[in-house]
Amino acid sequence: MGVVIWSNGRLYGPEEPLAPGIDHGLTVGDGVFETCAVYDGTAFALTRHLRRLARSALGLGLTAPDEGAVREGVAAVIAASGPDVGRLRITLTGGPGPLGSPRFAPADQRQSLFVLAGSGAPSDVSRVIRVPWVRNERSAVAGLKTTSYAENVVAVSEAYRLGADEAVLANTVGELCEGTASNVFLEREGELLTPPLSSGCLAGITRELLLEWSAAVGLPVREAAPGELRYDVLDEVVEGSAHLAMSGSIRNVSPVVSLDGSEVEAGPLCVEAQRLFQARLADDLDP
Ligand SMILES: Cc1ncc(COP(=O)(O)O)c(C=O)c1O
Repeated sequence: MGVVIWSNGRLYGPEEPLAPGIDHGLTVGDGVFETCAVYDGTAFALTRHLRRLARSALGLGLTAPDEGAVREGVAAVIAASGPDVGRLRITLTGGPGPLGSPRFAPADQRQSLFVLAGSGAPSDVSRVIRVPWVRNERSAVAGLKTTSYAENVVAVSEAYRLGADEAVLANTVGELCEGTASNVFLEREGELLTPPLSSGCLAGITRELLLEWSAAVGLPVREAAPGELRYDVLDEVVEGSAHLAMSGSIRNVSPVVSLDGSEVEAGPLCVEAQRLFQARLADDLDP
């Protein structure tokens, strides 16, 4: 299926022009976004995604978008898409701006809002690589889901070039951090651990739900303490004494079966976490 776009009350095709060339999102990546899965015509966890979108916008100095407008756009693109619609993308940018990084004066700012729908099937397993580039946990935009994703484009392109589908990054102090579009969970000694937000990773909604749902059923899944997960713990995954899973809105919880080109075993807890997530997801599409 093709992509359907909504902006300002109107639907557009994927190739139709709709943003001015001076949109600050386009010129300098001044924007924030959300990606969520769509199941049976319903955007999954939309309320949590809208909350994070507002948080990212405020963190960037933008105004949180009107929730009613976003929901209108979401309903419009889903209604206009075929049954294969599997993912949504909501983008809010600073709107028209100067050619450099400063924005227009507040009175002259008009933010742009775009909602896009497309197809997207979750993958059951992940194949990942390590990359030499790092997340900056002290960045001005750490933890915000901004449209400045060029670093992720480079890292995930390298993953695809090597036959994988995701790259796992360290942060500047050598801690395990996250993937380009996913959070990471490490299974070791009967526990599934995910790096804390202080590592600079995004507060992923899949990560957050897995932590909540695991706690509810007593599955040993927890946030690691700062410094507890070093990047070189990935050596243990290659050696087979630890396992990895990735989480994200399209892949859900996905055990890793290949690291740096070596086949690795899906960990039992990773598989259990995947099962739990799939089961709970079906119960409530806006948890
Ligand atoms: C950098 C980054 N980390 C983690 C995630 C996972 O977050 P979520 O589970 O909310 O999709 C994403 C999602 O795209 C991301 O871009």
